[in-house]
Parts: sequence; C-alpha cells; structure tokens
Amino acid sequence: MPTPKFPVLETERLTLRQLKKSDAPALIALLRDEAVSRWLLNNLERTTLKQEQEYIKAMRKQFLKGQGVHWVICDKAGTPMGGIGIGRWPMDRMHNKTSAGFWLGRAYWGKGYMTEAFSAVLDYAFGTLGLNRVSAGHFQGNIASGRVQQKCGLLYEGTCRRAFLKNGAYIDELMYAIVREDWEKGMK
Ligand SMILES: CC(C)(COP(=O)(O)OP(=O)(O)OC[C@H]1O[C@@H](n2cnc3c(N)ncnc32)[C@H](O)[C@@H]1OP(=O)(O)O)[C@@H](O)C(=O)NCCC(=O)NCCS
Repeated sequence: MPTPKFPVLETERLTLRQLKKSDAPALIALLRDEAVSRWLLNNLERTTLKQEQEYIKAMRKQFLKGQGVHWVICDKAGTPMGGIGIGRWPMDRMHNKTSAGFWLGRAYWGKGYMTEAFSAVLDYAFGTLGLNRVSAGHFQGNIASGRVQQKCGLLYEGTCRRAFLKNGAYIDELMYAIVREDWEKGMK
C-alpha cells in the first residue's frame, strides 16, 4: 500500500505540517509551562525529551494507520508554536465525524493564531475529508479555548460534568461542535 501523503495546510501566517522527531525539544519548551498544560488532558509540565519523541512517533503512526492527523503549527519561518490534531478514528470515521484538540505556546496567545489554524483544519475536515461533524471540548474556565471554538463556528452543545480528573480534582468539560450544514453556510 502506498504511504499516504500528509496534508500540509498553509494559512496567511501559519504552516501546519507533520510532526517530526526533531520538533521535540521546541515543543517541550512550550509545553513545560503550567499556563499551557493546566488546560490539557495530560500533565506535561515534566515531559521528557524521550516522552515527547514517543508521542511524535505515535502520532505519525496514527496518521499512517488512518487513525488521525496531528499537525505542528509553525510560523512562516518554520518555528514550532504549538499543535493541533483530529482523530479518534476509525470508530468516528464510521459516523463521518471527528474531534479536535489544540494548544499554543504562551508567547503566541491572543493574536488570532489558533482561530486561523483551527479554521484551516475545519476546512480540511469538511472540504477534503468530507466529514459531517467536528467536535471539541474544553475544561470549565478555559475561556480562550471556548472563544476559539465559537469564532470557528462551533456551537455549545452541553457540559459533561466531572469528565476529567486532573491534579486530584474533577473538572467539567464544555462540549462544542460544528456540523457540515453550518460549515457550508459559513463558506457562502
Ligand atoms: C486556547 C488557545 C489555543 C487559544 O489560542 P489563541 O491563538 O490565543 O486564540 P485566538 O487569539 O485565536 O482567540 C482567543 C480568543 O479568546 C479571547 N480570550 C482569551 N482569554 C480570555 C479571557 N480570559 N476572557 C475573555 N476572552 C478571552 C481572546 O480575546 C480571543 O477572542 P476575540 O478574538 O473575540 O477577542 C491558547 O490560549 C492556548 O494554547 N491555551 C493553552 C492550551 C489550551 O487551552 N488548549 C485548548 C485545550 S481545550
């Protein structure tokens, strides 16, 4: 079977490309920041180089197996700024849907970068993959993530109470999604 070609996405200010092993040091430097990791599922404050390399390897393998697409978000000079991904396949692919997750290093917040990156990923999911639904969630209190989801056209669908256990506390997850009709309307 031929190796699938990874979808590099270009936006006005960003390039979204496949993660590679050599990205690990730059990504760790951004992830070992409590301001970032507090909003993510895993506690990444003490991520080691080896763990990050293993993660990158796993994400590359997922892509090859058709189980998800994970991009590193770079500026046009090629500097890694964060990550974004869609996946939970093949189960979700049966229903023509996916879920998304994203993060940026703190220095890059508040400049509209994630809205730009996530919009490109949504265009890829609906326009290229032909999916019918993309969902995303965020921890209670993560206002910036909720705003990004709203700005990208996702609608709030409800709250999963005490969905995650993080640092000894249960956290609610606010769920958002966009369906094909919404995305098509936004295209017009
Ligand atoms: C969530 C995150 C990706 C947002 O990225 P970003 O590039 O800063 O997002 P954007 O600049 O595109 O949009 C952020 C929006 O949130 C708003 N915002 C941010 N913090 C806010 C706050 N405390 N109160 C109100 N609005 C806030 C911004 O004003 C902006 O909205 P606007 O354009 O209407 O003014 C980034 O903050 C991040 O990586 N956080 C840590 C990891 C994380 O939370 N990942 C998501 C897990 S679900």
